[in-house]
Amino acid sequence: MSAARITAHPAFVTGAIDRRIFGSFVEHLGRAVYTGIYEPGHPAADAEGWRTDVAELTRELGTTVVRYPGGNFVSNYRWEDGVGPRESRPTRIDLAWRTIEPNAIGTDDFVRWCALTGTEPMMAVNLGTRGAAEAADLVEYCNTPGGTTLSELRRANGADAPHDIRLWCLGNEMDGPWQIGHRTADDYGRLASQAAQAMRRVDPTIELVACGSSGREMATFGEWERVVLEHVFDDVEYISVHAYYQERDGDRASFLASGASFEAFFHEVIATADAVAARRHSSKRIKLSVDEWNVWYIDDFAGETNLELAERPRLIEDVYSALDAVVVGDLLTTLVRNADRVAVACLAQLVNVIAPIMTEPGGEAWRQTTFYPVALLAQHARGVALDARLDAPRLTTAKHGEVDALSAAVVWNSEAGELVLSITNRSTESVSTALDHVGFTDVELIEAVTLVADDEGPRRTAAEVADAAPRPLEGVVAGEHSTSLTLPPESWSLVRLRASA
Ligand code: AHR
Repeated sequence: MSAARITAHPAFVTGAIDRRIFGSFVEHLGRAVYTGIYEPGHPAADAEGWRTDVAELTRELGTTVVRYPGGNFVSNYRWEDGVGPRESRPTRIDLAWRTIEPNAIGTDDFVRWCALTGTEPMMAVNLGTRGAAEAADLVEYCNTPGGTTLSELRRANGADAPHDIRLWCLGNEMDGPWQIGHRTADDYGRLASQAAQAMRRVDPTIELVACGSSGREMATFGEWERVVLEHVFDDVEYISVHAYYQERDGDRASFLASGASFEAFFHEVIATADAVAARRHSSKRIKLSVDEWNVWYIDDFAGETNLELAERPRLIEDVYSALDAVVVGDLLTTLVRNADRVAVACLAQLVNVIAPIMTEPGGEAWRQTTFYPVALLAQHARGVALDARLDAPRLTTAKHGEVDALSAAVVWNSEAGELVLSITNRSTESVSTALDHVGFTDVELIEAVTLVADDEGPRRTAAEVADAAPRPLEGVVAGEHSTSLTLPPESWSLVRLRASA
């Protein structure tokens, strides 16, 4: 068995963990909205048609912010279609997913769903087929208290108080050729800057996210960020990061080490943003909005242009394995560890579409395997991420080269007196691990759980998923200076210790 050591001290802090990193995403895509969060007539639907079983699971998942309405969808969306009396809303063809969009759900409805689930809306504006004027109009509709045509329209539509939406995405994946109205970095940067300035004149308090690359593998990655940030540096707080991972060609080792690429991606975007700052002699630090991340078997998706036109199609309904859940645990651990620069993150998506929650129309709602690490971390990774030192064996992977066999985040919640270790063992061997908690006293074990990958493949039913649920991690010994544990091969674990500092 190999060995590893992690050293953490309460004085060595990476940063406060922003609760907004436990976000998710609801796009008008497939069955995310219709028969996902909303299904009038379902036995669990409330008077408005919201599925209360899904709302309940959303709360259990610990979701904080929810990005809406897209995704690719937003790039051909007219927000005006989704407000006002339902019976007068138009039915359109959504060009992003070639889907019939009835507009039964729109901005005001979604904000009400957020209130129901205790989440914060994160709104995206269309910079594909539309521009600064429509974006500013939407801010006015949502955030202006009253006294203007658009704010009075919102009030007439039943929302007397302003929605007060803080977080706004300036378009979606505008670098991607699949995006309706995709642009060059220069075109997008100019438009995003104009839209940002117009939106801010309506509400100076909003926070703005510029589109970064759709993935680290994009040919324009790096240069896209640089050029866009040269345009919008003074206008935005955040730049987006989108990252999806899958196991390819049976290369399980590389898949398990996806977090290494995820983290390298963060560091590259941060370096680019800081280089733009340096050229301007600015101390401003642009933070990351990792507003799409997950495991997605994208190679199984036929592509946007090969779709039959349909209403509520079953699109991108990936079914996850225990292995996928370990990788999701590691990706979220990576987000927590980078608390100094990651301000927002959205697990893409929430329901039915590459999602931790699945539903059947008229039937059950259930958790996928990926639900577990997200819910556990959202509940327990509170406070600050510590700048812990990791000494672990190294692994060689075909895709990412040499990486640490372990990936860890150590979180100190001084309010609750809780020291939390989130840790992935990416290797095929058990690893005997010591967490040296220097500067902490009265350390006691509260709970230790582990989720272990297997060869069972996708788990299709609630019962199959429950079989892969985290189980107690036996043999954790909390000592005065150090806690010892043995990490099972290919596992993600969470250890909670009572402590004082
Ligand atoms: O999350 C699914 C899709 O992935 C989103 O619509 C798009 O932004 C990304 O390419």
